[in-house]
Amino acid sequence: MISGSLRAGSVNTAVLTTAGSLAGDGVETSLYGGMGELPPFNPDDDPDGGPVDGRVAELRRRIGEADALLVCTPEYAGALPGSFKNLLDWTIGGGEMWGKPVAWINASSRPDAGGAAGAHESLRAALGYTGSEVVEDACRRIVVPRSAISPDGVVSDQDMRATIAEALTALCGHAAAARSAGSA
Ligand code: FNR
Repeated sequence: MISGSLRAGSVNTAVLTTAGSLAGDGVETSLYGGMGELPPFNPDDDPDGGPVDGRVAELRRRIGEADALLVCTPEYAGALPGSFKNLLDWTIGGGEMWGKPVAWINASSRPDAGGAAGAHESLRAALGYTGSEVVEDACRRIVVPRSAISPDGVVSDQDMRATIAEALTALCGHAAAARSAGSA
């Protein structure tokens, strides 16, 4: 799971933390925490065949080991936060995202359906360049105000929790089906 926010007390990170707490049997989640330490992307530092900075190698290793990715990101200035777009830029050269099932939860607190629309258009475009597979029926839009985050950093509202769990279950189900189809 990758949050597009570096903020302490991030709503987006809280949504993913909640997803992790709701993971069913047989589902193991991990929240990537190294986004703030990644170097600014520079093609000169991403030669074919490597080597790349250890922090980038770690990101790529974590993605490679994952069966699927769940993303939750804010919108900054109508697009993705720069630090998250930087992370996505680092995923292009490695190839670990190729064919990887990905879904997102748009948790923008704006009450209208268009909340964070620019960010998620950017996300979809960037994911397209990584060759990953957006699992549409696992993507969700939930209006999550900051007040919905409990002091222990998870979403407390039961309806929101149910929708978060639905997204994770749908993504994992898709990944499991893709894996078994691949091994058939
Ligand atoms: C924002 N925010 C924002 N919101 C939005 O809907 N569209 C936008 O373009 C922006 N732009 C923007 C720029 C900057 C610099 C900041 C700091 C904030 C609001 C932001 O997306 C919102 O507070 C999110 O809830 C932040 O999520 P986290 O960090 O709590 O996960």
